[in-house]
Amino acid sequence: MKRSCYCGKVDESFIGKEIVVKGWVHARRDHGGVIFIDLRDREGLVQVVFQPEKKEIFAQAEHLRSEYVLSIKGEVHNRPEGTVNPNMFTGKIEIIVNELEIINTCPVLPLEVDDYKETSEEIRLKYRYLDLRRPSFQKNFIIRHKVLQEVRNYLNEEGFLEIETPFLGKSTPEGARDFLVPSRITNGSFYALPQSPQIFKQILMVSGFDKYYQIARCFRDEDLRADRQLEFTQIDMEMSFIEEDDIMKIVESMLSKVFKTALNIDIKTPFERMPYDDAMLRFGSDKPDTRFEMEIKDFSTELANCGFGVFNGVIAKGGVVRGLCIAGGAKFSRSEIDGLTKFVSEYGAKGLAWMKITATGAESNIVKFFKQEEIDTIINKLQAKDGDLVVFLADNAEVVAQGLGALRVKMGKQLGLIDKSKFNFLWIVDFPLFGWNSDEKRWDAIHHPFTAVKESDIDKLTFEDAGKAKARAYDVVLNGVELGGGSIRIHKSDMQSKIFDLLNISQESAKEKFGFLLDALSYGAPPHGGLAIGFDRLCALLVGEESIREVIAFPKTQRAICPLSNAPAEVSEKQLKELGIKVAQKINVQQK
Ligand code: AMO
Ligand code: AMP
Repeated sequence: MKRSCYCGKVDESFIGKEIVVKGWVHARRDHGGVIFIDLRDREGLVQVVFQPEKKEIFAQAEHLRSEYVLSIKGEVHNRPEGTVNPNMFTGKIEIIVNELEIINTCPVLPLEVDDYKETSEEIRLKYRYLDLRRPSFQKNFIIRHKVLQEVRNYLNEEGFLEIETPFLGKSTPEGARDFLVPSRITNGSFYALPQSPQIFKQILMVSGFDKYYQIARCFRDEDLRADRQLEFTQIDMEMSFIEEDDIMKIVESMLSKVFKTALNIDIKTPFERMPYDDAMLRFGSDKPDTRFEMEIKDFSTELANCGFGVFNGVIAKGGVVRGLCIAGGAKFSRSEIDGLTKFVSEYGAKGLAWMKITATGAESNIVKFFKQEEIDTIINKLQAKDGDLVVFLADNAEVVAQGLGALRVKMGKQLGLIDKSKFNFLWIVDFPLFGWNSDEKRWDAIHHPFTAVKESDIDKLTFEDAGKAKARAYDVVLNGVELGGGSIRIHKSDMQSKIFDLLNISQESAKEKFGFLLDALSYGAPPHGGLAIGFDRLCALLVGEESIREVIAFPKTQRAICPLSNAPAEVSEKQLKELGIKVAQKINVQQK
């Protein structure tokens, strides 16, 4: 029997015709002597009906169990009145079976192939091939495929060349640990898997390819979270002879096409551009979720001379006092407020000051320390109303931003302030070039060390002023998620050496690690820049999933393992010997 149509694609145009469908038994119902099967394939479900009159087939149908693989020949009919399912593509029809072939049987599955059944993560990943049968997964991967084609089509039309760069290479600094691959040919030497194709794509610009892209797999040995995997995919691009605006335009048009294809949504372009300092001040984050307001306000000037020692002490030492207003929060109990205090303490905050707003003013353990005009300022600036709770953090700007930023997102979710139908795109611009690493008392690159400084800040490239220098970097943010980032690069080797100096990367070390890039830059490098979009994050946002695991076929768990294949695993003595490697210690970081 040759298949004539996918199960999920049988519509009214087939009525009266005999067709063949193949797929898995999704569900079986016995009703008044008739057996109904929902047969499933990647496109969806179709109802097939076994009537008792066809005795032999009916007897076979009585043995059908979930997830048996069937081939069915039958005639397509309208469903009887009252049994139409408007929520299904195939909801108006059913197939009356004439022939049945049981292609394969199976025991009871370790999990149910059902979008509405909860199963533990461990089991789901161990039997990933079964979990992936779920209709929602099939849909996710069909969208992922379509988006990828759309991206390729768009970039091809714009004149980009798709060029592959090596997996086996040298370390590219993107801020994570490298995955190392030992060399058999040269024992004691290691390749590093790419954290990104950054250096190679810049070198391709030196070669004159002008516009490059790659759907690039990247590897980063970092702690896993909902939006992070050890290996993930970037839409990686680089262009020559361009400015920030050119890249932003390309990315905006590309994302517009993607959203049109995947969701039939017209997104608004150009995206709003928000300076990094504004984002940190108003939202406490460099990836603000602007789908709701609840903005942070600064009180470091107005409360500098207030009577509350914690506040004026912090301000006197150069710190800041900032607050936000939680609508309706005055009804929170003491233990709920203690919960919020504990929450911000995870970001380094030493406490959480609060006031409940009433019709006549404010109430709390600290209100007595404030003058009426200070309370009025607080209420006005935060536009607080009777029944709201205002909270404050006093600390250095970084701790305050992190604590209040996280609290804002938590409360936004908890109070249902987030409009899930919105897609708020944003460019974050004017990033600082460097961040102070207080542990090691040195400057770190905020983006990566190949990022160009703003023309107007070249004179700030000194150890003292480096913190004030702004980068020609930009991130694209969607609904509170950092979707992608990039920058205009340094294209002169003397400037690149200067930045390495500031980063305290010695001449020898720079030469050893990135000498090939420095050399390339010295042989006529064009001005260039680019960006990479986290493709998994983009797909997760498109299908409305919190975790990128829902759009990656075979992801790793939080403990960085693949329960399906049992990777990582020990290898044979012979393999180790060839590689010249002896395992000295077996430390399990997560059990420490
Ligand atoms: P960056 O490090 O910002 O930039 O990475 C670009 C985007 O990749 C995604 N991403 C991840 N996705 C899943 N799991 C991870 N562990 C992970 N890490 C990053 C994010 C991020 O915005 N070479 C530069 C780009 C450039 O300058 O052109 C780079 O890799 O969505
Ligand atoms: P205390 O004076 O320590 O009793 O604190 C009074 C209130 O101020 C408590 O609600 C503390 O949680 C809060 N508090 C203490 N330190 C800070 C701080 N650095 N920022 C904001 N609130 C604080």
